[in-house]
Amino acid sequence: MPQIAVVPGSFDPVTVGHLDVIQRAATIFDEVHVLVVHNPDKTSSLFDAAERVRLIDAALDEAGLHDGVRVESWSSGLLVDYCRQVGARVIVKGVRSSADVAYETPMAAVNRDLAGVETVFVVPEPGRSHVSSSLVRQVASLGGDVSPYVPRVVVEALAQ
Ligand code: PNS
Repeated sequence: MPQIAVVPGSFDPVTVGHLDVIQRAATIFDEVHVLVVHNPDKTSSLFDAAERVRLIDAALDEAGLHDGVRVESWSSGLLVDYCRQVGARVIVKGVRSSADVAYETPMAAVNRDLAGVETVFVVPEPGRSHVSSSLVRQVASLGGDVSPYVPRVVVEALAQ
């Protein structure tokens, strides 16, 4: 049976750090579902869910990372409900720092309690450990250059 892993996130927008995590997940698992988790009531996002999916798809194409990787979105409830629906037993998250580990650990424990889904933490390339979507949003909104931190398709989408 193929081992499916879910890489969830807000991806608003997808960064080079996310691509690093997706690539690592794809080397470990047979199938990777990159899942844009979004709350339809949240109106403060930079990109809507459909646009985030499109940007991730385009970034994966650009990076040659689409083999065994698909991009989906989820707004219907718990992350583990999606995992159950597709038969995924593992969630993969990137951890850049001890602060990330502290933030992710309770979620990992709750997801295991809820559905027996385990979380695997992967460590991105150290040169990418300061990259986050929230910093990208802030720098971009103030007119700064975010091209070192995001795929080209995101730079183009931000320019529009
Ligand atoms: O990009 P982020 O902010 O690290 O993504 C966090 C996300 C969306 C993966 C997390 O908030 C999440 O899993 N939300 C879905 C709701 C859920 O299942 N909550 C209970 C387990 S914590």
